[in-house]
Amino acid sequence: MKIDVVAIGEVCLDVITSNIPSILNRNITLNDITVTAGGMAVWFSRGIKSLNFRPGIISKIGKDHVGMFILKILQEEGIDTRGIKLSNVKTSVCIGLILSDGLKRFIGMLPPRLESDDIDLNYITQAKALHMAGYFLYPSLWGDNLRKIFKYAKKEGLLISLDTQSSSYARSISRQKLQSILKSVLDFVDVLLLDENEGELITGSDEPTTILERLSNLGANLIGLKLGRKGSMVFLNGKIYEIQAFDAPLKDTVGSGDIWDAGFLIGLLKRLEPKDAALVANAAVVLNKGLREKDRLNAMKFMQEKIM
Ligand SMILES: Nc1ncnc2c1ncn2[C@@H]1O[C@H](COP(=O)(O)OP(=O)(O)OP(=O)(O)O)[C@@H](O)[C@H]1O
Ligand SMILES: [Mg+2]
Repeated sequence: MKIDVVAIGEVCLDVITSNIPSILNRNITLNDITVTAGGMAVWFSRGIKSLNFRPGIISKIGKDHVGMFILKILQEEGIDTRGIKLSNVKTSVCIGLILSDGLKRFIGMLPPRLESDDIDLNYITQAKALHMAGYFLYPSLWGDNLRKIFKYAKKEGLLISLDTQSSSYARSISRQKLQSILKSVLDFVDVLLLDENEGELITGSDEPTTILERLSNLGANLIGLKLGRKGSMVFLNGKIYEIQAFDAPLKDTVGSGDIWDAGFLIGLLKRLEPKDAALVANAAVVLNKGLREKDRLNAMKFMQEKIM
């Protein structure tokens, strides 16, 4: 199986619920609860696949029933799982609560530790791009360990992106430490991806333009800052572009940030200007998560014009 884009990161079981009141003081019955393979590397790979590129994942899951269930789903979806190690760990589960006001909250387990040995460099170099899906979820890769992998991938000519995501552990350490953990790999990162909460955690500002300036001072050249329903901002060489989200209701927003990352990266691989790659990213979100068929069809048409 050939691959175009490899994602290193989280694979878990997602349990997705919608329309949850923000104050939970009674039992709730829902018409539907989605149970599927999830985690940042999986949603990212679905985004890649939906744009007709071939995704592969490097990760670790348990040899348990949940792990087998996830593998089967990924294989059926055409995502390459050769880089997913089966280990004597418990496969993690993430419960997504989409609140009735549209906000999302997660109750989840930390993913199993990934060590450098779990990451096969030969596998990575089969691809054209490498994505770190959730750097702050993997303290075992912080600093030198990921740096070595990125250095190798860069030497082999891959485009490299990194989404920080956040974790309770990352929130517990000092801002200065978090900045140095990010800075230590930034010189190999072509695209830094994060949302405004992660931006605030790293920079101490809740103002998107200040977040971008401070990240640039840390050494980021190209940044995609995701702002939920407000859309996104792209920073390139001191210039900031504001990109509105497409006007289309979504089924749910679990994984929307990772699908956005996938669209952005494919746009860049197709040599689009970053601000146009962000439009491809928006379209990828609607294609995968749009509630209405007409919006999904429009997103597909848009995509075909831009990259296919
Ligand atoms: N409520 C929403 N309505 C419309 N579009 C949305 C909504 N939430 C997200 N999006 C779209 O998805 C993109 C990325 O989502 P978001 O900003 O939530 O990223 P994220 O915080 O990284 O997500 P994740 O929870 O997957 O990590 C946005 O830029 C926007 O285009
Ligand atoms: Mg995210």
